[in-house]
Amino acid sequence: MNITFAHTKGGVTKSALASNLCVWLHQKGHNVAAIDLDAGEYGNKSLTTSVGQAAPEIPIYQPADAAELRDLLPQLAEQFQFTVADAPGGFQSTTQTNVELLKHSDFVLIPVKPEFDAIEPLSVVEQIIEVARLENPLLQARVIINCLDGRTRTGRDPQSIVDMIHAITPNLKIMNQKVRIDSSAFQTARINGSVVVQGGRSPAQEDLNSLFAELLSDMIAAISRLSQKLATTAYS
Ligand SMILES: Nc1ncnc2c1ncn2[C@@H]1O[C@H](COP(=O)(O)OP(=O)(O)OP(=O)(O)O)[C@@H](O)[C@H]1O
Ligand SMILES: [Mg+2]
Repeated sequence: MNITFAHTKGGVTKSALASNLCVWLHQKGHNVAAIDLDAGEYGNKSLTTSVGQAAPEIPIYQPADAAELRDLLPQLAEQFQFTVADAPGGFQSTTQTNVELLKHSDFVLIPVKPEFDAIEPLSVVEQIIEVARLENPLLQARVIINCLDGRTRTGRDPQSIVDMIHAITPNLKIMNQKVRIDSSAFQTARINGSVVVQGGRSPAQEDLNSLFAELLSDMIAAISRLSQKLATTAYS
């Protein structure tokens, strides 16, 4: 199962969610690899740095170009139950790296913060996914609402964010489980060289655990739909 985190807008928490998902899958005993296409990211925010510090036993790949990525993805799909890729910042459909990435992904996860700036470009993200589906019709997409802040009006009313997303992209599915803003848990993790899902109990840890469990069940449902379809065609 190849999972890609992508968005055309930067700073929407792609790398933070990708590193937590990698470590969560690893904690659950799954065989997982990280693919970092944004390794040049400054500071300690990249997938390579976060996963490298938090769970050094998880293999990390940094393909240098689209050709390397094209050869690597099918190999990793054979070798690992899950790959988690962090797409480069400024994600566009036109770069060859992104074409390859989406062609070989099963799920594309699109984090948003509850801000118009992060939600408005979802129409472009949806178009990119539609183009990718011409070559990869089974590509699934999910929006993840992160950084809900109970001190703000929208934070107290998550349905208003869901409605805003549906108004812009009626066909993009949104994960039910949303993630609360929790600077303390993320800061503690950064100081400890860990990720939030490894830390003590915190609101963000609770939310991420439920979010990833929901995602896993969506992925299992997608696989089972596919195998039913294959079985029907095989016997018809
Ligand atoms: N629920 C949360 N509560 C508080 N802080 C969070 C939460 N989720 C993520 N963050 C923090 O938000 C910041 C931005 O996230 P991140 O670097 O993952 O974004 P990005 O989409 O990868 O950005 P870039 O486009 O620069 O690659 C990070 O410092 C991260 O720790
Ligand atoms: Mg990043």
